[in-house]
Amino acid sequence: SDAAQILVASNRGPVSYALNEDGELEARRGGGGLVSGLSAIGSNARSLWVCAALDDGDREAVRRGVGEPGVRMLDIGAALHSDAYNGIANSVLWFVHHMLYQTPLEPAFGQEFRRQWGAYRLYNRAFAEALADEAADDAAVLVQDYHLALVPGMLRELRPDLRIGHFSHTPWAPPEYFAMLPGDVAEELLLGMLGADRLGFLTKRWLRAFQNCATAVLAPYDGTSLWPKDNEPAFEFRIEGRGRHRTRLGVHGLGADADFLRERAARPDVEERMATLRAQVGEGRRTIVRVDRTELSKNIVRGLLAYRELLEERPEWRERVVHIALAYPSRQDLAVYRDYTAEVHRLSDEINGQYGTDTWTPVVVHVKDDFARSLAAYRMADVALVNPIRDGMNLVAKEVPVVTDLGCVLVLSREAGAHEELGEDAVTVNPFDVSGTAAALHEALTMSADERAERSKRLAAAATALPPRQWFLDQLDALRDGA
Ligand code: G6P
Repeated sequence: SDAAQILVASNRGPVSYALNEDGELEARRGGGGLVSGLSAIGSNARSLWVCAALDDGDREAVRRGVGEPGVRMLDIGAALHSDAYNGIANSVLWFVHHMLYQTPLEPAFGQEFRRQWGAYRLYNRAFAEALADEAADDAAVLVQDYHLALVPGMLRELRPDLRIGHFSHTPWAPPEYFAMLPGDVAEELLLGMLGADRLGFLTKRWLRAFQNCATAVLAPYDGTSLWPKDNEPAFEFRIEGRGRHRTRLGVHGLGADADFLRERAARPDVEERMATLRAQVGEGRRTIVRVDRTELSKNIVRGLLAYRELLEERPEWRERVVHIALAYPSRQDLAVYRDYTAEVHRLSDEINGQYGTDTWTPVVVHVKDDFARSLAAYRMADVALVNPIRDGMNLVAKEVPVVTDLGCVLVLSREAGAHEELGEDAVTVNPFDVSGTAAALHEALTMSADERAERSKRLAAAATALPPRQWFLDQLDALRDGA
């Protein structure tokens, strides 16, 4: 029934706290696709969102008993959280699923990794215990993302009566890449997830990759893939002494929230930021806009290289276009993320030094948590550049067409999940092909006004076909349906 309790579990929760100069706690909304999608939970009175204390502000909030109704923050200690979140989740699992390892020295799964894997287990156990403790008899539990891959299995052992779902907001690695993980770890991870009744993915591609990994790794457990009904895939396996368990797999694309975005983008703070950005761009110039987290997989640097090639190869664009690159600071505890952010600044400065004039700054970069400024840039975009090397979905690709004032052209990586839904009306790029991306930017900038307008309208329709609320409710329905 609709009154049934819903529990959500994720590392990052809907709010996070920071201590201001006066020692007061200030609440901030969490970022990223996961939090955007789950905002729909707020409307259920019996729901509870279990999340982790991420930093000192959050831990202080837990100590002071400050919090939002419907949210329980777990403080598992700074060191343990860092080993699990920075060490395993973001340096290993994120890297595997986004295929980000780039040097001959990485990864090296030795003692340090084993120690962190132990922390990851404890951190997952803390979530499983909190959920087991909070869950009513009829509860549905929706566990989110790679941070909490072991939770479904652990929770099933504690509370076999619950309906457990898990959703992956990332891509899933192909089996050859996934096989980098030590065998026992790969197995523990997959069996942990398969403790769920249902696993959700953003696209068919990621679902199939998961299925391929599970089939390859769990063969000794008599794993079998089957397609029981309505083409819905499932994975069934048997473990000695534990009987048979069936996990169903499903795809739930996540779209943009049109009502929220349009209302938010029309507010005065967005208009103010548009005025500031316009002054930085200058009269009559075109804009190429991108908005990301400072995230390696978003491919900001190759985007800058492509823009430089555009200015080099097509000098007619000099003085006539500005690349606005906005980014939210992300995962700055990791050196490789700090270095990447520094490289974005260095390369933009270099391009500005190379081509800039007294009246024209070719690249405008801002790294700050400023959603109003992102919306301002969306509205002003002639071209949106979304070129991740791999991305679960990418909501920016869906948000820009919804709020654009100009009917913008979307240059979109074929490796973004969003490409499955938006590919036909976007200009598609191979994210590694810098020259190809430069050519795509030129094509986008020269597209006729009519074609832009038409494509942009179709993009907006496709982008909003699955609003977050629908995404959330569909998963719940699917979880309840399966007997
Ligand atoms: C991705 C992940 C989310 C994560 C978000 C922001 O979208 O799928 O789980 O919350 O990035 O990353 P962060 O590490 O800041 O939570």
